[in-house]
Order: sequence, then C-alpha cells, then structure tokens
Amino acid sequence: MEDLVLLPIHYHEEYMNETARLINREWQKSMAARLLSLSTSCDEFPTSLVLVNQRTNLVVGHAKVSAVKTIPDAVYIETVVIDRMYRGKGWGSELMKQLHDYLVIKHNAQTAYLSTKGQEKFYMRLGYEKCEPIPLYGGFPLPANQINSNQNGNNINENANNNHIINNNQNTNLNQSTTNNNINHSKYIKSSSPPKGPAPPPMPPPRKIHNGLKIHTKTFMKKQLQGEQDF
Ligand SMILES: CC(C)(COP(=O)(O)OP(=O)(O)OC[C@H]1O[C@@H](n2cnc3c(N)ncnc32)[C@H](O)[C@@H]1OP(=O)(O)O)[C@@H](O)C(=O)NCCC(=O)NCCS
Repeated sequence: MEDLVLLPIHYHEEYMNETARLINREWQKSMAARLLSLSTSCDEFPTSLVLVNQRTNLVVGHAKVSAVKTIPDAVYIETVVIDRMYRGKGWGSELMKQLHDYLVIKHNAQTAYLSTKGQEKFYMRLGYEKCEPIPLYGGFPLPANQINSNQNGNNINENANNNHIINNNQNTNLNQSTTNNNINHSKYIKSSSPPKGPAPPPMPPPRKIHNGLKIHTKTFMKKQLQGEQDF
C-alpha cells in the first residue's frame, strides 16, 4: 500500500489520458468528453484525484469530489473506480482513506456524501451509513445564520464559482491536527494554483417519476470525516 499515492490530477496532467481511459473502461463516454471533465479539476472543487502506483508509475484508480452547495463543509464523492486488474486487493479502500485524509487536511471537510448502486457494502466497511438523498446543485436555501460564514470560518460566496459556494479560508493551516497525523502534506501543496475550471453541467432530470415524486434508484450514503475514529 505504501506505493500508492493519491494525487490531484490538475498538478499531474501526465496522467490525464491514462485516467480518462481507465474511467471510460467502467463508464463509457467519448475521450474528448472525459478529458474535458477531467480538465475542470482544480484545488477548490471539483477535484479529480488519481491513485498512482509509484512503483510502476501506473494510474490504478480515480475519484472526483465536489462541494455540496447546500451543506457547509460537506463534499460529494463520485466516479470512484479501481482498474479492473487491481480490484479486491484493498486498493479501493486505500483510495478512499487517502481521499478522506486529503479532504480533511485541505478542505477541513466534515461530512462526505456519495451515492451508489451496488457498492453499499464496500462503503459501509469504510464507515459510511445510508442517508436521505441530498440536493447537490442547489435546492434548499441555507439558513440565514449560515449565509456569510460558518463555524470553521469559511466564507460562503454564491458568486465565487457556479460550481461551489463555500470558499475555504485561504489561511487554513494545512498542518492542523486531524484524526490521522501521519500524512505527507507536501504532495497536496503547490506554490501557485492553476486557474479554476468552468462550471459543471446542470443536474440531469430524475430518471423516474411516480405520482409526482422523484424515485432515486441509487442509495445515498454519508460519513463523518472528523470527530470519529477512522475505519
Ligand atoms: C468499488 C471498487 C472501487 C472497490 O475497489 P476494490 O479495490 O476492489 O476494493 P477493496 O479491495 O479495497 O475492497 C475492500 C473490501 O470490500 C470488499 N468489497 C469490495 N467490493 C465489494 C462489493 N461490491 N460488495 C461487498 N464487498 C466488497 C472486498 O472484498 C474487501 O473486503 P476484505 O477487506 O474483507 O477483503 C471497485 O470494485 C470498482 O472500481 N468497481 C467498479 C466501479 C464502481 O462501481 N465504483 C463505485 C461507484 S459508487
């Protein structure tokens, strides 16, 4: 496991093509569309991270994270995938653990959400529990007392970026104490950030409507990233 490292792809563009091919082997899309999606990755969400085996220099996994507009300090994880050749070796769990560390250290994230159809047990082993669906791209207005700031000093700015409204405090101390202190922070840090990517496309319409109610075919799950022992 010590050979596996999770890297933000916008600092490692050399892995772009390989990552696009890896994801497309699981969820087919045109290469151009996939590369465009990966190219939106930035420090302030959405962020695409690749799991690289440093011994072979091969990309073996990927996950994408976005901010949840409606819930302070919450993130939404998607497109989690381990290359078929390497599944069942604990690498998916390692990817998720390194991702959780990254989200706590870099963003002080409190809660991670995701939705899945079929991988519930995998996520439950990592400490996720089932929850109600959450609005990802807007919906419920935030309570008035959360509009300008939240308890962690993060500014909430609806105009900052269409894609997310929560700007982490620029002065966040990346060395702050977390549940896991054995983390190499330097790999997440660069002296200058690349430009932010364009806003993501709008939410697709719900797949099914029954008696006027949306029916979610996926299971939503969540995990507290801080204040609980890691699995
Ligand atoms: C889900 C996925 C990322 C897991 O990666 P992985 O490297 O195979 O996972 P791990 O080897 O870390 O699995 C950890 C444990 O969960 C178990 N596990 C893995 N997938 C499971 C599943 N679908 N159901 C139940 N248990 C599962 C493994 O057996 C292992 O158990 P163990 O620790 O007792 O041996 C991988 O299977 C994958 O890429 N699937 C296709 C894409 C996908 O469905 N992604 C999720 C989208 S929500």
